[in-house]
Amino acid sequence: MTITIDLEPLSEAVGMAVRGVDLRETLDDSTQDDLRDLFAKECVLCFPDQDITAEDQRRFAAIFGRVDTGNRGNSKKDLKKAATRGEMLVTNIRENGKPIGSLPDGEMQFHSDGAHRQVPYRATTLYGIRIPSTGGNTMFANLQAAYDALSPEIKGRIDELQTQTVYDYEAQNRSTIGSDPDLPRAQHALVKTHPVTGRKSLYLSRLMTEKILDMDHDDSETLLAELFDHAEKPEFVYSHKWTPGDLVIWDNRSTNHARTDFPPEEQRLLRRYTISDPDAPLAN
Ligand code: OGA
Ligand code: MN
Repeated sequence: MTITIDLEPLSEAVGMAVRGVDLRETLDDSTQDDLRDLFAKECVLCFPDQDITAEDQRRFAAIFGRVDTGNRGNSKKDLKKAATRGEMLVTNIRENGKPIGSLPDGEMQFHSDGAHRQVPYRATTLYGIRIPSTGGNTMFANLQAAYDALSPEIKGRIDELQTQTVYDYEAQNRSTIGSDPDLPRAQHALVKTHPVTGRKSLYLSRLMTEKILDMDHDDSETLLAELFDHAEKPEFVYSHKWTPGDLVIWDNRSTNHARTDFPPEEQRLLRRYTISDPDAPLAN
């Protein structure tokens, strides 16, 4: 029996809410095909009201590519087993003063996961478990719409440019990125073509794009500032207010995401798996 999927846009900017699928179940091939098509087109999907285990989340993630394994930064020993299977907890919960997961506190500027890798993570899945009463939204910026809206003149100027990206584990905003020469870095085309849809996107972010290569430093900063501001315009952005039970998957090739601030005294806990291209080097 083929199930009926119910769709509703999350916003005018990007994203689709998907109802009518129970992610505790193994989905049939045709539903999996439909979800892959939908994901390529919509870039952000939210499946509300899911009651899923880590294993369910992994099985869902595997529909979209190779689920990453390896230690994803969970620090406590009781999480080690989970961590080696690719699970990462995004949380501010602490034991003995130390976060039990990753990306604990507060606001995070726009970025895309794995931009510091030569082959970035194709997608990220995040499952909401404990959500603060206010704030801690994840914002998604549609980089395809941002590219399309550029003037022909700017498109012509940037089409062939290459950038250097960096992942500064500690940084939550641009002012402190990249001080250490040993941080993981990669080189990327500023304009990327989506391998499934052929659509172009403006592949850059405030938190991870360090500079434009072969360009004077000041010119690079000026152009980047202009493009960051453009890519973060409200008309390209959807702000997702989490409800426990939301499973969100986003495409790191066509969207950026950021996080809004939230009260430090409230707990926030989400479970994350990333997905890579099947032939990408193994992530750790
Ligand atoms: C991530 C991330 C945002 C959030 O998991 O990669 O950026 O809202 N999370 O916690
Ligand atoms: Mn992220």
